[in-house]
Amino acid sequence: MNQQNYLTQCDFLMNLSDHTINMTTGWNGPCWFIPGPTWLTTAVLNGLATPTMTHRSPEFKVVMAELHGRLRHSFALSPTSTEMGQQSQEGEDGYSVVVVSGSGTAAMEMVIANRFGPEDRVLVPTNGKFGERVAQICENFTSVTHLKGEWGRAFDLEEIETILSTGEFDALAICHNETSTGITQDAEALGKITQKHGVPFILDGITSVGGLPVHPESWNAEAVVVGGQKCTAGPSGISAVAISESYVQKMIENRNNHDSSQVYYLDLVQALKKAADDQTPWTPAINLCTGWVAALREQDEEGIENRWHRCEMLAKGIRNLFTEIGFELFADENQRSNTVTAILYPEPEWGEEWRRWMAVEKDTHVIGGQDHLKGRIFRVGSMGVTSKEEMIEGCKRMIEGFRHFGRTIPEIDVESFFR
Ligand SMILES: Cc1ncc(COP(=O)(O)O)c(C=O)c1O
Repeated sequence: MNQQNYLTQCDFLMNLSDHTINMTTGWNGPCWFIPGPTWLTTAVLNGLATPTMTHRSPEFKVVMAELHGRLRHSFALSPTSTEMGQQSQEGEDGYSVVVVSGSGTAAMEMVIANRFGPEDRVLVPTNGKFGERVAQICENFTSVTHLKGEWGRAFDLEEIETILSTGEFDALAICHNETSTGITQDAEALGKITQKHGVPFILDGITSVGGLPVHPESWNAEAVVVGGQKCTAGPSGISAVAISESYVQKMIENRNNHDSSQVYYLDLVQALKKAADDQTPWTPAINLCTGWVAALREQDEEGIENRWHRCEMLAKGIRNLFTEIGFELFADENQRSNTVTAILYPEPEWGEEWRRWMAVEKDTHVIGGQDHLKGRIFRVGSMGVTSKEEMIEGCKRMIEGFRHFGRTIPEIDVESFFR
């Protein structure tokens, strides 16, 4: 999108209601299917524009308490109060949430760096770019075994179980929803395996939390990470972690066992202490917190389970529609994500040109492939506040775009795929 288009879009979003549905003609706004940063509603933009407050003020503690309490809904943890001074960050299930001023990668680094030492052996199976990033983070702080799989193929659970059953590993860390390839790992099955072999389980839930069913407690997860700009439809540059009691205990043991800590700014022991008082150790991203609260109010208005269902309905529609018109989906069939769908370009020669044309001519935004998948796939997000109407219109425009590039696609009832 060029600068002028971008400003027009901002204008459009600020001046019209968020859900730009004309009752006679359907959706008439931009179609934004980037798998994060997602579309920010007017309420979130207004939340970001909250007047200055200091991070040690009662006003800010009110914001943090609400943020903690509502994030617990995103993580599907036991509910707490959203009121200041009520321990909103820690629930009956023993999990605590901590807000991080930094994107999802900072939160993931925080989770690994505080909990493990160089002698800890962490197994990281991967099937895409973000799993590989988990392995890279672990490489910096732990003794990692990277089980590098083919992008887009499901994990071999038997292989993982065989490795963990040796008793040689101190943790399993994964990217739960692999945004680069449109795969959701079978976290429930992996949770059972880790439980059986007494191995702590860590998840990058950056594009799953808030958009897909996530169950930290029943999955035996010690830590799960979320990024603001993804399924919760909040701002970029802010993230959060959910950590269990056993994580906290092991983190403190790890701190006591090492002469020097590997962290300072990302010290989770300090962050946890301050969170109990609805604060943060350092000056946080104050206005990202106020913006995120506004996004989470919208999440709670919709209801977290309804949001999971909407993402599922949208992703199923995309999968079925594109399969019907002869496109191939990239990810293994039984592990396809409901928050991002990876689709192979019919003609890699002009795929990226099509994508740019869609943005400029049709105001419809999808993302391309990463690394060796550049030019081979495009990815359609179905997270955040994307509505059925926006998705239907966007799919119609994408089909028009493919026809414009010479692909023969018969007339098709797009609406029927999203009922
Ligand atoms: C699954 C996953 N993990 C990690 C990241 C990196 O997150 P961030 O850019 O917020 O640091 C992303 C970003 O797209 C992601 O999709």
